[in-house]
Amino acid sequence: MKINIASDYHDMSRQAAERFYEKLQADPSVHFGLATGGTPIGMYRHLSELLASSPLKTDALKTFNLDEYIGLPPSDPNSFYSFMKEQVYKPWNLQADQCFIPDGNAADLEKECERYEAMIDQYGIDVQLLGVGKNGHIGFNEPGTRFDALTQVVELKPSTRKANARFFPSTDDVPTHAVTMGIGSILKAKEIVLIASGEAKAEAVYALVHREQTEDWPITALKQHRNVTVIVDEAAGRLID
Ligand code: F6R
Repeated sequence: MKINIASDYHDMSRQAAERFYEKLQADPSVHFGLATGGTPIGMYRHLSELLASSPLKTDALKTFNLDEYIGLPPSDPNSFYSFMKEQVYKPWNLQADQCFIPDGNAADLEKECERYEAMIDQYGIDVQLLGVGKNGHIGFNEPGTRFDALTQVVELKPSTRKANARFFPSTDDVPTHAVTMGIGSILKAKEIVLIASGEAKAEAVYALVHREQTEDWPITALKQHRNVTVIVDEAAGRLID
């Protein structure tokens, strides 16, 4: 595991954007696994700027998202689809057939999980971007999730709904369930880049670096992957040596 301590959020975003840019440069038909949330916004902006000022084409790139809320229509401003459309699909000039995200409104959610997992297997993810929750969740895999779980329906912990309430009118409006790639799905990616910013993430980053693998801290599953780069700012990295 490589650990890069960035000086601040901006530096973390720049480093992560450059890694993804290099991957696209090396292979224009690369498959990116992507995340939503507050942490990757700076990285997506930086990568959008790099792409805007470069001859590099994005028409062969494919993106696969980690998760989606259940019960929000894609047009809802808080759906992860809407987030991706604003932060990634539009600025990177991606067409619908390049963008994959679980369908949180599927009539049969179990089938949707199987379909999404089969797609991950069919295409393969070259590099997966991850954020991390304060409690160590990756994707929406909360503490206690099995490390071999595949794409699944999960119930969000009250603390996760509270953390994400900043995007909604109130905590009650945050969906209670989501479809998420499982930890087993995430570990299939050839390379993983995890970004974390701010003091609230310091304990989770500490767990990744210093704890044994434990389902109490889903992030520790990444210890079993051979190609992980962790990019954290000083605040998120303050507990690691
Ligand atoms: C998002 C996701 C989550 C977030 C995590 C951190 O697709 O799967 O694991 O990465 O909740 O969220 P932020 O970045 O908002 O602190």
